Amino acid sequence: MQELVSPINLFEYEQLAKAHLSQMAFDYYSSGAWDEITLKDNRTAFTRIKLRPKMLVDVSEINLTTKVLGEPLQLPLLIAPMAFQCLAHPDGEIATASAAASAGVGMVLSTLSTKSLEEVATVDNGLQWFQLYIHKDRGLTRALVERAYTAGYKALCLTVDAPVLGKRERDQRNEFTLPPGLHPANLTKISGLDIPHEQGESGLLTYFAQQINPALTWKDLEWLQSLSPLPLVLKGILRGDDAVRAVEYGAQGIVVSNHGGRQLDGALASLDALPEIIAAVDGKAEVLLDGGIRRGTDILKALAIGAKAVLIGRPVLWGLAVSGQEGVSDIISLLKDELTTAMALSGCASLQDIDSTLVNRNW
Ligand code: FNR
Ligand code: LAC
Repeated sequence: MQELVSPINLFEYEQLAKAHLSQMAFDYYSSGAWDEITLKDNRTAFTRIKLRPKMLVDVSEINLTTKVLGEPLQLPLLIAPMAFQCLAHPDGEIATASAAASAGVGMVLSTLSTKSLEEVATVDNGLQWFQLYIHKDRGLTRALVERAYTAGYKALCLTVDAPVLGKRERDQRNEFTLPPGLHPANLTKISGLDIPHEQGESGLLTYFAQQINPALTWKDLEWLQSLSPLPLVLKGILRGDDAVRAVEYGAQGIVVSNHGGRQLDGALASLDALPEIIAAVDGKAEVLLDGGIRRGTDILKALAIGAKAVLIGRPVLWGLAVSGQEGVSDIISLLKDELTTAMALSGCASLQDIDSTLVNRNW
């Protein structure tokens, strides 16, 4: 393969990143569950929506600024929570957080980060959220929430689509585990927990089966909210009725997501779930979306359907693998440039100009 010296889009970053990663890390980052139908559909869903651009609008100045849960962002973008970022680069989540902070975008830190939540919080950023996996050990969950609050995270992002881990067959084949020296830093520190090496199985799948609470239900949200004053965002909602319940149980934000196709294969594309959820929530919470965002036009389509902002996952890991913080910054700046151009070509000078008339209605 010819070396791509300077990638010009997110897809080229993926190609380049592959050469920087071990097979086990690349497979872990890129795979989806089972036949990867949902993983692919997250992308093709964007091709099914067509834009209806407006002409003869003054687009000499494009304003991308917005607010998410009251915090200002330079563009409607957050970095999705992703485990084990030190597999991509020794600076891991610190590099990601630094790139997010300098671009003025949000970042959600995974419970399973390879840098501790305290270390990541030292990076000055207006909008850092902590993603929570609720362990069977309630004391451990309580400690994580208290630490996140003390460290200054602005919201808890509870992932609700992973009572068990989805079956990623490449991880099973590779017997995925962390290499020597890497650990889930938030947990090893206080509880000695680690990702096992398991014969014939993904060690992460075994970790979930042993440690993560599969009995979690709506009523546990009350307990969770009693642990700190942090606002609650539920990540992994795909139905309008669940979104309504989320609001009833006090969630201030919803991330429409199928976990990047890594959990239930055959689940609908997150973009396809969005219209129903926007209608059901009816403005009572902020609705975000992730899954398959790779172009500025993807962001435009999600916002036109009603998302307040979007999250990106894997492309950040590709940037990180290629050149650490600089690579993540470049990923954000490529998307920013593409969104700016897409808005200019659609007759939208600010995010307020993006409404549902911008997309066709045959979704
Ligand atoms: C994830 N995702 C994820 N989600 C979460 O809530 N907690 C986590 O720890 C992780 N870990 C994780 C690791 C890796 C390698 C990937 C690729 C994804 C899911 C993530 O937050 C997000 O929902 C998807 O990645 C979004 O889809 P795209 O942008 O990757 O297509
Ligand atoms: C994953 C988990 C950690 O998708 O969320 O790998």
